[in-house]
Amino acid sequence: MKGIILAGGSGTRLHPLTLAMSKQMMPIYDKPMIYYPLSTLLYSGINEILIISTPHDLPLFEKLLGDGSRLGCKFEYKAQEVPNGLAQAFVLGEQFIGKDKVCLVLGDNIFQIKINTLTSCKEVEGGIIFGYHVNDPERYGVVKYDEDFKVLSIEEKPTNPKSNYAIPGLYYYDNSVIEIAKNIKPSARGEHEITDVNKEYLRRGELDVRLLGRGTAWLDTGTFQSLMQANQYVQVVEERQGRKIGCIEEAAFKMGYINKVQLLEIAEPLRKSGYGEYLVKLANS
Ligand code: G1P
Repeated sequence: MKGIILAGGSGTRLHPLTLAMSKQMMPIYDKPMIYYPLSTLLYSGINEILIISTPHDLPLFEKLLGDGSRLGCKFEYKAQEVPNGLAQAFVLGEQFIGKDKVCLVLGDNIFQIKINTLTSCKEVEGGIIFGYHVNDPERYGVVKYDEDFKVLSIEEKPTNPKSNYAIPGLYYYDNSVIEIAKNIKPSARGEHEITDVNKEYLRRGELDVRLLGRGTAWLDTGTFQSLMQANQYVQVVEERQGRKIGCIEEAAFKMGYINKVQLLEIAEPLRKSGYGEYLVKLANS
């Protein structure tokens, strides 16, 4: 399975923070935002990853993450010239995906999910997406279940949401997603919506909408408040547990993409901030 991180957009809801810097490069406590979705892909068992961003921001991501070899991975980069919707990721990524399955994660979505939940999605036939109970569903894609958790409807940012279950920015699909994405027509807001991709899988009877229950965290970073809360959440959990969230080096080590010697090499130049200390401890544990 291949992975795609979509890190585009103009971040208008965070201006002036994002006037000169990409939203997905903003700090979330002790690391850049994109580390979190990247670690979600690594923990899914994926190490061939395409990063899509604006022509302006792409070089920054390349500088930060390189070709991935340091982490035992392969990273590629592709510019999205016009921000015309999430579903475009599969059209832009067609060559990269080839004949494989693919997982798309949004560059501003932060998850804390059990590894088993993630790795089990590699076997996807059709599509696997998630439902997560939130207070403000109107800001997201929304799924309505019946009593047996059978999906009744999926809607993008409905004014009157039919449920409190939002659809997080983490999607696993089989290879037909390329053909489906190519046939999506722009929505009223002029975007190729991921929700329309999901509706097509639902129509085909091939969509599995799994519930992310209590105990999993899906954090939003779309407003000043939620960005601050995400920072605080990560700080509280990391300081309490002495374990990091979204640490890509740890994920690469735990998933066996790099060995102890390679981890220690990465750690060395990062020791002054304490981040490297953490990696050294991990290597020696
Ligand atoms: C996008 C999707 C939406 C999804 C959300 C998750 O919204 O369109 O369905 O729930 O990501 O973050 P956007 O970030 O474009 O507002």
